[in-house]
Amino acid sequence: MPHKSIAGANIVLGVTGGIAAYKAVELMRLLEKEGAFVTPVLTKAATQFVSEVTFAALSSSKVYSSLINQDEPIIHTKLGKNADLILVAPATANIIGTYRSGLAVDLLSSILIATRAPVIFCPAMHTEMYENAAVVENMQVLKQRGSEFVDAEFGALARNDVGKGRLAELEKIVAVVKRVLGKNESFDKKTVTVTAGGTKEYIDPVRFITNRSSGKQGIALALEAYYRGAEVNLVTTVTNVPPYLRDLEHFNIIEVETAQEMAAAVCNLSEVTDMIVMAAAVADFKVKNESKTKLHRQDGVPNLELAPTIDILKRLVELRKKNSLNSKTSKVKSQVIVGFAAETDDLSRRAANKLKNKNIDMLVANDVSKEDIGFDSESNAVTIYTLNGFVKQTDKKSKSEIAAEILDVYELEFIN
Ligand code: CTP
Repeated sequence: MPHKSIAGANIVLGVTGGIAAYKAVELMRLLEKEGAFVTPVLTKAATQFVSEVTFAALSSSKVYSSLINQDEPIIHTKLGKNADLILVAPATANIIGTYRSGLAVDLLSSILIATRAPVIFCPAMHTEMYENAAVVENMQVLKQRGSEFVDAEFGALARNDVGKGRLAELEKIVAVVKRVLGKNESFDKKTVTVTAGGTKEYIDPVRFITNRSSGKQGIALALEAYYRGAEVNLVTTVTNVPPYLRDLEHFNIIEVETAQEMAAAVCNLSEVTDMIVMAAAVADFKVKNESKTKLHRQDGVPNLELAPTIDILKRLVELRKKNSLNSKTSKVKSQVIVGFAAETDDLSRRAANKLKNKNIDMLVANDVSKEDIGFDSESNAVTIYTLNGFVKQTDKKSKSEIAAEILDVYELEFIN
């Protein structure tokens, strides 16, 4: 099922009069970098903070600020009808109240009531205003009517004040925009659990055995599932994820270190998950005689004894079988389990065998012998195999693009 995405989308960026208006310029650039066509619409108050010229110099579109336009009459209906999304950032108490009341007092408020496109508000104002009962009620009513809100954050405000009311991080706003545009039926109301990163198997409290996995492909997969509208669980050994991810609704981060911890977290989520992607590089062996205290040089070279770790994929397949018998929901019965295979040789034969032997639905294989793809690089090239014989080889692409290809195959093979 084709899904809409930010690339090629027409976004009206409504900018209202607050100190955060200057950030809207950067927001516009970020959206355009993602391939969107952004039309800035400034209120009169916004032009007191940032001039139209600033937007015009950086925007690919004309900048609008007036309802009465000699060259283009009834511009509000044209912009409202053409828009795939209206994003109001920063949104003052004034525009929120105006829209709640259904008033058309200027160009932006007229576009808002002349559109059927989704609307996202990113409020930014002083704490007292943000917490004012009327403003809170206005936001609640608009949420009930279907508007999205990227809530304000705690931080520095105008005039050296600090408190709740600061415009949300721009990366977070872009992520929400991508989700609102990218939401589709295949992922809406679905839960996707993705593992990412290499596990750490401890030798002693300060040393561990790990591998070269950066977790980037797993994180890209989790984000792509989020953009398509899923409730996402990211079970990760990587802790330095982009900070805005920790703040996203519908995106839960569960940090783990060892294979055992990862197994516990994923198995715990199995019953509520529609799709599980084991993108993590799980260690196959752990240290059997892990020392509870730090090993010291003078005690001599330690003799490390290794023991196998739990095979998480195998456990997940068993759990699905067990839960399908007991569960009343169809979620578990139709659960799709995806494995990864990092290989250095004989890729297609090993991958085909792994898919069959592990009894999973889909396998994503990549050749990690090549330096510029796979482990720790920004790009990847994979071959995707499904149980019913579907095979797709991708070109070398960014990890986000590879994530989109993997989820496309899921939609094609398991949803439609
Ligand atoms: N995996 C797992 N539990 C483990 C080890 C790996 O669930 N203890 C998962 C990985 O997350 C990946 C898949 O199994 O999705 C394949 O991992 P890989 O190490 O390539 O396969 P193995 O079965 O360990 O086979 P081998 O190492 O012999 O290639």
